[in-house]
Amino acid sequence: MKVLIVLGTRPEAIKLAPVIKHLEHTRGITSRVCITGQHREMLEPFIKLFDIRPDYELKVMQSNQSLFDLTSRVLAGLEGVLKSELPDLVLVQGDTTTAFVASLAAFYLRIPVGHVEAGLRTNDKYRPFPEEINRRLITHLADLHFAPTERARANLLAEGIPEERVCVTGNTVIDALLMILELTKAQNPLTSLPLDFTKRIILVTAHRRESFGKGLAGICKAIRTIVQNVQDVQVVYPVHLNPNVRACVMKELSEHERVVLVDPLDYVSFVHLMNGSYLILTDSGGIQEEAPSLGKPVLVMRDVTERPEAIEAGVAKLVGTDADRIATEAVRLIRDEEAYNKMSKAQNPFGDGHAAPRIVEILCKVLNNGNR
Ligand code: UD1
Ligand code: UDP
Repeated sequence: MKVLIVLGTRPEAIKLAPVIKHLEHTRGITSRVCITGQHREMLEPFIKLFDIRPDYELKVMQSNQSLFDLTSRVLAGLEGVLKSELPDLVLVQGDTTTAFVASLAAFYLRIPVGHVEAGLRTNDKYRPFPEEINRRLITHLADLHFAPTERARANLLAEGIPEERVCVTGNTVIDALLMILELTKAQNPLTSLPLDFTKRIILVTAHRRESFGKGLAGICKAIRTIVQNVQDVQVVYPVHLNPNVRACVMKELSEHERVVLVDPLDYVSFVHLMNGSYLILTDSGGIQEEAPSLGKPVLVMRDVTERPEAIEAGVAKLVGTDADRIATEAVRLIRDEEAYNKMSKAQNPFGDGHAAPRIVEILCKVLNNGNR
């Protein structure tokens, strides 16, 4: 039996690496990896770190790519790969254009699809954009759904997905995070960063397409307000390579006292930075899932989240992209020890670090029984 794993972006590499590693040691399943190249520089360090050896590399990325360009280039590139490999199953992760288009391409060739991190929903068509619709479309193209939580499973059942095709596995990001923490606990990769560790660190990331313009400007304004109002904090912001993000962030935050802008970090550095930070401000999906394992409060700079489990667990709070709201909530957590302690003690609702072996076990059963 042959499984083709298709990935293209940073979070897909992190979340599929544990599955790829387990598949490499699984008898009875041959695995192949295709990298679409939706990301380039931002993907490379992750491929190296996890020792992923791609069988195909499509190199589709173009600067400031539109969804039209990206979608058509990935679809055209995957046709040849799928036709020459003819796998028994295509495995995708999450809600990126790579994941959606790979599912569509597999469907065109009547190849079954397995979806890792299935069932996340905001129920808002345009937020996140285009991810909410990507993942809904993947659900209806896929045959096997690996839901990270019971809530994600319930979302799938509510959309008519048959119960026997949905398995709750936990999120593989926790497998990756715990593995990297364990392997690198003796390292200190942060010494190369220009940071003053006598100050409390606020880690920021923001890159969502629906926030380009007003939303991102609000986020930058909030950061300026936070450092103006609190002296003993320092903001560090690894800035995504998307030119729409960089142009705004560089204009609004360059040369600002106690705001350190750096390029995207490799995973080891980023995990240690999350661990060393006091508070995280982000619009990232993966970081909302990782932070609870590290006991770090997260202010989610979006209007809606597909990860309400983090909010309910008390470790994350939705604050939108309004500058005043973000700054008020951040300053409150910096000054109010009780509120901070309450948020930093939550349990991780997203997994126990064993999602990948569960997924691989299910794949073995289903593929070897011919039950697709
Ligand atoms: C993509 C995903 C998003 C995911 C994010 C993770 C889609 C539509 N979006 O968003 O769901 O949360 O990845 O980071 O699938 N760029 C580089 N080098 C890189 C990567 C990106 O220069 O290594 C620049 C390029 O100019 C590129 C642009 O960023 O055109 C946008 O990349 P793209 O993958 O389309 O969107 P992201 O915003 O990265
Ligand atoms: N991450 C990283 N370096 C960075 C920023 C993020 O390694 O500079 C990791 C982070 O730990 C998480 C993942 O990248 O696992 C999240 O990726 P991103 O925010 O780009 O995508 P999303 O999760 O929003 O789809």
